[in-house]
Amino acid sequence: MSTKHTMQDTDLFTRPAAITEVALAAALDGADLPEHLLEAARWSVLGGGKRLRPALVILSCEAVGGRTDHAVHAAVALELIHCFSLVHDDLPALDNDELRRGRPTLHIKAGEPMAILAGDLLISMAFQQLMDSPMDVATKCSLVSELAGGTSSMVIGQVYDTLGGLPDDLEPHQQLQLVHRNKTGALLRAACRMGAFCGMADAGWSQCLSEYGEAVGLMFQVVDDLLDVTQTTEHLGKAAGKDEEMGKITFPGLLGIEESRRVVMELEQQAIRALEPLGPAADPLRDLGRFMAIRTK
Ligand code: IPE
Ligand code: IPE
Ligand code: MG
Ligand code: MG
Ligand code: MG
Repeated sequence: MSTKHTMQDTDLFTRPAAITEVALAAALDGADLPEHLLEAARWSVLGGGKRLRPALVILSCEAVGGRTDHAVHAAVALELIHCFSLVHDDLPALDNDELRRGRPTLHIKAGEPMAILAGDLLISMAFQQLMDSPMDVATKCSLVSELAGGTSSMVIGQVYDTLGGLPDDLEPHQQLQLVHRNKTGALLRAACRMGAFCGMADAGWSQCLSEYGEAVGLMFQVVDDLLDVTQTTEHLGKAAGKDEEMGKITFPGLLGIEESRRVVMELEQQAIRALEPLGPAADPLRDLGRFMAIRTK
């Protein structure tokens, strides 16, 4: 039986987050970049993030008996794509945000051209990381394909979120799920699947981790929507109350706060159920799923 984790209990993420932090810094400092581009990349990547996607990669790899060091490049790649998505998400043309991870967004710090270009750089660096990973060629190909698919889905979700164009034969609830599964869920699911690949999981266990990733992926954005309406800017380190102001479609906006919380609980249970065949080795992922449901930032 795994233990219940609280917001104070960060043991779960300190280890994967610390491993990732070191590897991210090494990846950036090892790249041959002009000083201002390096500074921009470091600003957007290092320090402040929860590193939940890397934790999903590393814990998924370990849950199937894989070696931690086999998952580090994939963890870094996931976080680089995530950071790219945040830099571009914050641009004036998208969410127009000035605060991220408790400090000015990159376009405020270094200007829009640099924010666009540094974001672009993080994408290519992410795929380079996968090619530099210690896995065999076939596994690297699976990792590249998985990350490419997750990244494309994220972009599709951002297009729906920002420009609409959702299929109009879908109910509003289905449209909302489509936005969230794409813009956020896909990369979290990819994180779990990539962890499975790094751990050389068989098809059955990969499927369990896919289902877990699918559930926590959607759940993550429902919680993000809830935090936008229930927390302060100071606590979040990013602007609160922005979704309604920007006319975004969100879970609390469509279903209300109580019903959205019920959806979170249902997805959390779905995630935990998906891990059943993995036994106690998946306890850290169970705890991570519980944490992601109750997080307050
Ligand atoms: C924020 O992601 C963007 C969403 C997809 C909701 P996180 O809440 O994981 O942001 P960081 O990495 O911890 O800053
Ligand atoms: C972000 O969704 C999804 C991304 C692909 C970055 P949000 O726009 O809700 O994320 P925050 O609230 O700005 O972190
Ligand atoms: Mg956005
Ligand atoms: Mg945003
Ligand atoms: Mg948000």
